[in-house]
Amino acid sequence: MHPTINLEDINQARELIYKIAGLYMPQNKDSTIKNRLDKLSRELNIKDYSEFFMGLKHGKFKQEFINAFTTNKTDFFREGFHFEDMMNRILPHRLQDNEPFEVLCAASSTGEEPYSIAATLLFAKEIYHSNTQVSVQAIDIDTFVLEVARVGNYIIDTNLNPLPTWIELKNYFDITRLSEHKIRMQAKQNLKKILTFKQHNLCAHVYPFSGKKFDIIFCRNVLIYFKVEDQEQILSKLFSHLKLGGTLYLGHSESILGLASKVDRLGQNIFIKVAE
Ligand SMILES: C[S@@+](CC[C@H](N)C(=O)[O-])C[C@H]1O[C@@H](n2cnc3c(N)ncnc32)[C@H](O)[C@@H]1O
Repeated sequence: MHPTINLEDINQARELIYKIAGLYMPQNKDSTIKNRLDKLSRELNIKDYSEFFMGLKHGKFKQEFINAFTTNKTDFFREGFHFEDMMNRILPHRLQDNEPFEVLCAASSTGEEPYSIAATLLFAKEIYHSNTQVSVQAIDIDTFVLEVARVGNYIIDTNLNPLPTWIELKNYFDITRLSEHKIRMQAKQNLKKILTFKQHNLCAHVYPFSGKKFDIIFCRNVLIYFKVEDQEQILSKLFSHLKLGGTLYLGHSESILGLASKVDRLGQNIFIKVAE
């Protein structure tokens, strides 16, 4: 028998996930909190929530708690216009010089997004006959999704996640058809070679890039889970790691907030940094 979840447990979970990961779950998310606690109690065999929360405050099962409370929905080439913008606007020029080209994928989830970025980079290198060194750094707070991403093996329903036709995906993935609309996509070594996955909490005070400046930052469909004041903090930290002239891509329902005066907007949540 698993313990029943009362309002106090829900409030404790709300407070702790905010404190630990910055995720803001207001009262209209109470049923989501309850479902996630329920699932966690089955996985961890929780008998008593007060005891569980007491342990959590001292770090016990902290990672399991984080992993249970993140929302990991993602897709290959999601909001596809960002990959087309990269391919058509940025890479034709930028891949002509020999400066390394570096992309940050913040909140990379199970990997579909960073692999889509990496495939776009390798395809562009081929099309534009470039020798420029390219790389993608992917970060997420959830260790489970990072493990899935490192393996890079996916089963996709192409009805739900239609794949683009402008890119030769078979050059970067071993693709096996499983049924009419199901395929398996296994990332090839050439793709994996330019990708690194790292755990990082976007709410951390210090980011692990030691002065590095990226050419492109993807930060999509994650800001929506934070309070506006925390979104401002995260955006400004990410922005400090974007090159002048670099591009920031945000998700369709996210906003540039206080950085508006420091960017040129291209539409579709594409922002070019024009001031520090
Ligand atoms: C909905 S997914 C978005 C994935 C991808 N960016 C996309 O647009 O398809 C949100 C991701 O943000 C991650 N996340 C949530 N809170 C985070 C935090 N504080 N630091 C880093 N990543 C976080 C979650 O683990 C999850 O994988």
